[in-house]
Amino acid sequence: MDEQQRSLGVLILAAGKGVRMHSARPKALQPLLEEPVIFYPLSAAAGAGIENIAVIVGYQGALVEDYIEKEWPGVEIIWQREQLGTGHAVKSAMDWWKRFDNLLVLSGDVPLIRAETIREMLARHENSSPRCTLMSFVADDPSGYGRIVRLADGGVRIVEESDAAEEELFIQEINAGVYLFDAASLSVVINDLTSDNELGEYYLTDTIQLIDETEGDISVVICDDPQELLGVNTPGDLASASKVLGERIIKSHMQNGVKCMDPSSTWIGPRVECEPDVFLEPGVQVWGKSRLCERSRVGAWSTLRGVTLGRGSAVLGPSVLADSDIGPGSEVGPFAFLRGGVKLESGAKVGRFVEVKNSTLGENVKAMHLSYIGDASIGRDTNIGAGTITCNYDGRGKNRTSIGEGCFVGSDTMLVAPVAMGDNSATAAGSVITKDIPGGALGVARGRQTNIEGWNGRKPAAGGKDSEG
Ligand code: UD1
Ligand code: CA
Repeated sequence: MDEQQRSLGVLILAAGKGVRMHSARPKALQPLLEEPVIFYPLSAAAGAGIENIAVIVGYQGALVEDYIEKEWPGVEIIWQREQLGTGHAVKSAMDWWKRFDNLLVLSGDVPLIRAETIREMLARHENSSPRCTLMSFVADDPSGYGRIVRLADGGVRIVEESDAAEEELFIQEINAGVYLFDAASLSVVINDLTSDNELGEYYLTDTIQLIDETEGDISVVICDDPQELLGVNTPGDLASASKVLGERIIKSHMQNGVKCMDPSSTWIGPRVECEPDVFLEPGVQVWGKSRLCERSRVGAWSTLRGVTLGRGSAVLGPSVLADSDIGPGSEVGPFAFLRGGVKLESGAKVGRFVEVKNSTLGENVKAMHLSYIGDASIGRDTNIGAGTITCNYDGRGKNRTSIGEGCFVGSDTMLVAPVAMGDNSATAAGSVITKDIPGGALGVARGRQTNIEGWNGRKPAAGGKDSEG
């Protein structure tokens, strides 16, 4: 922001319970594409380049505060101890916002607003400097929203649905819950709000008429994309918002070169980064802070959370991966489960029905079939035979397994941790390994085979006398 511009703060209202959501969780933390609803207005404000951001918390505010402190350092928390309405919420934060020239107010439950829309609103406000700019949109179904009443003298007021006269209910231009106030003008009228209305709340919307009457000059920006200003009040609204946002995100990735076979069944969260030429099969979900590098592929019905896929790597579907780092050219699945803390170096392969947790697999390691690998580190070029299990839990705690480079772990080996295999060592199939194996050695730990000659001939006939008892 250059020095010519007036100082600006943004206040996000998120203290309400969200009664219509019927949930034990506050509305601000309801998941929308696996991020809390409040993530979105925070991202839009930050994306618009606004540095001074505060959030009003109240109902289950400690939970909202925890999330913001963890994920949004630098954002202020302001408490509204009693939720007496949106006007009361803004008034509770007056000590914070009175230092700014302008105050942008966003609703914590209007998540689809884009940073560009906020930027345009700021630019228009700067150009004409009214006392307040508010955003409206025209809704096919205005129910549940405050209506914008255009007065004969050119002024504006907002009437809430519960207080609206019958003819006002037909108004389709509605209040989006996004306002840019001249802070000095707001501070003059905010103390004059009353709770003299159907719900007995202090409405922020009443400040519009008060400013119009005293300080003058309200400007209304009509947003031409009503979807952007959808208020999320009910589970149905949350589902509608998921759909709109999901489509918006996929479209923008495709514009950047991601190839998506069936966008309608694909879900990508807002924090996911994709490089060009990523290929997604139908039914893929990618969430959290995931990153898909060039030429990586995700197979049908796979779910990735917090996963990095290196260049040219492939997840064969269906597979489920969490908090894992998949190296370039590596391959996972089908039917693999990477539970978290997994690192595959380049060219490593984890195949069918293999579960891996908290382990590192070096370059070109192969674990192709039916294994559990937990709390292990495996050196490069090692082969893990089908059915290998790291027995990492002794009933009290977790223990580590260390397998060196170039090892051969025979099928159905139990590695009873803590245990280590030196470089180029091997185990015989079916061994229960409880002691370390030195480099280059073969560990055999199973019963020796005995063949009993002529056994078939000695076997009593079925149903014969000898079979009784
Ligand atoms: C509000 C507007 C309405 C507008 C709609 C747009 C008022 C009175 N009405 O209605 O004109 O069309 O948004 O989506 O403002 N909150 C607090 N403290 C409170 C009460 C609410 O922080 O005491 C927060 C809520 O958490 C929510 C936001 O303010 O994030 C809006 O409150 P909500 O009750 O959802 O208002 P609406 O009825 O949707
Ligand atoms: Ca609302």
